[in-house]
Parts: sequence; C-alpha cells; structure tokens
Amino acid sequence: MTEPLQATRLSDRVYWVGAIDWGVRDFHGYLTTRGTTYNAYLILADKITLIDTVKAPFGREMLHRIASVIDPGTIDYIISNHSEMDHSGALPEVIAEVKPERVFASPRGVEALARHFHLDGIEAVKEGDSLSLGSATLAFVETPMLHWPDSMFTYLADERLLFSSDAFGMHLATSERFADEIDDSILEYEGAKYFANILLPLSNLVTRLLDKVGKLNLAIDAIAPSHGPVWRKDVGVPVRRYGSWAAQERTNKAVVVYDTMWQSTDLMARAIGDGLAASGASVKLMPLKSCHRSDVATEVLDAGALIVGSPSLNGGMFPTVADLLTYLKGLKPRNLISAAFGSYGWSGGAVEQVEAALREMNVELVGEAVRVKYVPDADALSQCCALGAQIAEKLRQ
Ligand code: FEO
Repeated sequence: MTEPLQATRLSDRVYWVGAIDWGVRDFHGYLTTRGTTYNAYLILADKITLIDTVKAPFGREMLHRIASVIDPGTIDYIISNHSEMDHSGALPEVIAEVKPERVFASPRGVEALARHFHLDGIEAVKEGDSLSLGSATLAFVETPMLHWPDSMFTYLADERLLFSSDAFGMHLATSERFADEIDDSILEYEGAKYFANILLPLSNLVTRLLDKVGKLNLAIDAIAPSHGPVWRKDVGVPVRRYGSWAAQERTNKAVVVYDTMWQSTDLMARAIGDGLAASGASVKLMPLKSCHRSDVATEVLDAGALIVGSPSLNGGMFPTVADLLTYLKGLKPRNLISAAFGSYGWSGGAVEQVEAALREMNVELVGEAVRVKYVPDADALSQCCALGAQIAEKLRQ
C-alpha cells in the first residue's frame, strides 16, 4: 500500500525529503502563482547527513519523509546552506528532535542562525573546506549574496551532485521532483520569474559566482536546488539561463506598464503600444489593475524598454505605480531605455514623479514624456504613437 509523505530517491544514497507548499502565493512581495517547494536532502553515508531543512510549518512533513527512509534520530550531521527561514525555520525543531552530533553552516550562516534562533554550537565551514562523512565527502563553496550573505553550495563529489541552495531554483509546486519531468516552458518562465524577483539586483555577483564555480571544474551530473525540481539531465540548461539573465542584454521588447482611473492613461498606453509594434518592437502591455508587480519584473527581465504611465491622483502618482516603481528600483534592472506618460485633471504631477523615479533607477529616458489633460484627443494619441515609434527606433540601434 502506498504511504503518504514519502522521500524521493535521487540515487542509492541521496533522497529528497523536503516539503511542497501548494498554497503559498506571497513570498516577500513576489506572487508565487504556482506555489513552491522547500527542498531538503538526505545523504545516507556513514555519517547520515541532512542538507537544509524547510519552512517552520512544514517540519513535520519533512520528518515524515525522512522517516520513510531512516529513523530521523539516526541523523548525524545537518548542513545549513542558507539561513533564510524558508530553509532554516524547522531547524530548531529538527535539532531538538534528532539531536545531531554536529551542525554546520558558513561563517555568516553561523552568525545568522544564532541571531534568528539563538542556536549555539553550530560549526563554521568555509570556502574550500571539506567534510568527511566516512563513505562520502562534502565540499563547500561560499556563494555570498546568492541569495543572502551566508549562502553556500555543498558539493557531493561521490555523486557529482551540487546542492545549490537558492541558485537554479524556482517557486514551483509539483508532484514531479525532476526538471526533465516538467514542461520546459514552465521551467524557463518560473526560473526567470525567480531570477527577476530574487536575484536580479545581484546580477553582477551571479556572473562572478558562475565564473568562480566554473573555474573549480567540479564534475556535476545533477543540481539539487532549494526550491523547485532537481536538474539531473543537461545541467547546462539552468547554468546557461542564469548567465543570460544576469547579462541583461537589451532586446527588442518593450513593456508598457500603467494604471488608469477613467481610461485616459489606458488609451495612451494602447497608442504607445501601437507605435512600438508598428515600428517593429515586441510589445507587452501590463495594466496594473490585473498585473502583479512580480509579473512585471519578470517581463522586464528580458526587455529593452520600460514605459510607465500614471494618472495624477492628488497631485502625484497613482499608488499602484508608486508600488511598482519602488519594487523595480530595488531590483536594479540594467540596460533599459524608458519613458513616462499619463493623464491629469487639473494640477498633474504624476508624470514628473514617474520620470524622477525612472531617473533614480538609472534607466535612460528617451523622448518627451506625454501628458494629457483629461481625455486624449486624436493629436494626443498620435503623440503617444510617435513616442512608441521613437522608442522602437532606439531599441533597434
Ligand atoms: Fe529560499 Fe533565500 O531563501
């Protein structure tokens, strides 16, 4: 009879023992439309070792999965690759229950876990350190800011398996545990969404870390991240995608994002979109009444232009536009050209604030912002169309 909450075998000695969070829809501001997984892995070496834990409410689920393979009380070592609570939340409960002989984290992980949970006695492993498990050996690669200062990779040479923490993962709850069992268009989209919303501001570091890990010449047959499926075939796919996303090369795609009160700014957005498309750009219109900020960030990841529209409300930006620009500014997108537009009734003010926010994001403003009093007439819509064409022209250069 099939039992619930089973581990998934990755190899004779490695098992996935994490948790599936089908219902989560908010991950610190990021809309996780497809839920997520918190991955933990069990290594059955002489020293039985658990790599990471899960978010606190899922501790029991993980312990049940471990119990489908071994008695959790036989775990000797726990490795914490990353102290963020989606991976460490259950650590205090697991330590109390399992009473492992030793717990390891990076030096900054030791500090973070002490501050989060007042856990003492965690031992630091540094860049280049290795740890014998008797019948297997772990090596550690510090990957600071991927995605917190404490983050590290753990490498199991005996299985040519890299436990990559947040890197190469995605928020995707599935019954399948391996990437090759899932439609690649879903993997690409959710991987991009994860990168855009979590790692984009760290793009330069990602490039350098990929370079560093590449120079280590680790033989890697599989990548086991902390979220989403395990890559056991063609591990070059996620690595190449990270290289491309981190490069943020300018493309022919323009994202027009806006909100509207009485459809004037909406009419302007559509005219700008028409001008862009007629001049050869690939266009994505994203009205903020129906598009979440994290979906906008995902579309911006591979865009060359970001055009932002807002009606004026009480002399300033519409709140949804301010929310978006605050979010995008923190993500530090590079290599974008940009423009602002919007309608107003009497005092205006929104377009000026949008332009100021875009300047703070260090994007290149192109053309003249278009402002329309009340409802755009044919001339105003032609002006919008011309702005779109001007941006499309610039994208071709
Ligand atoms: Fe999945 Fe940075 O935690």
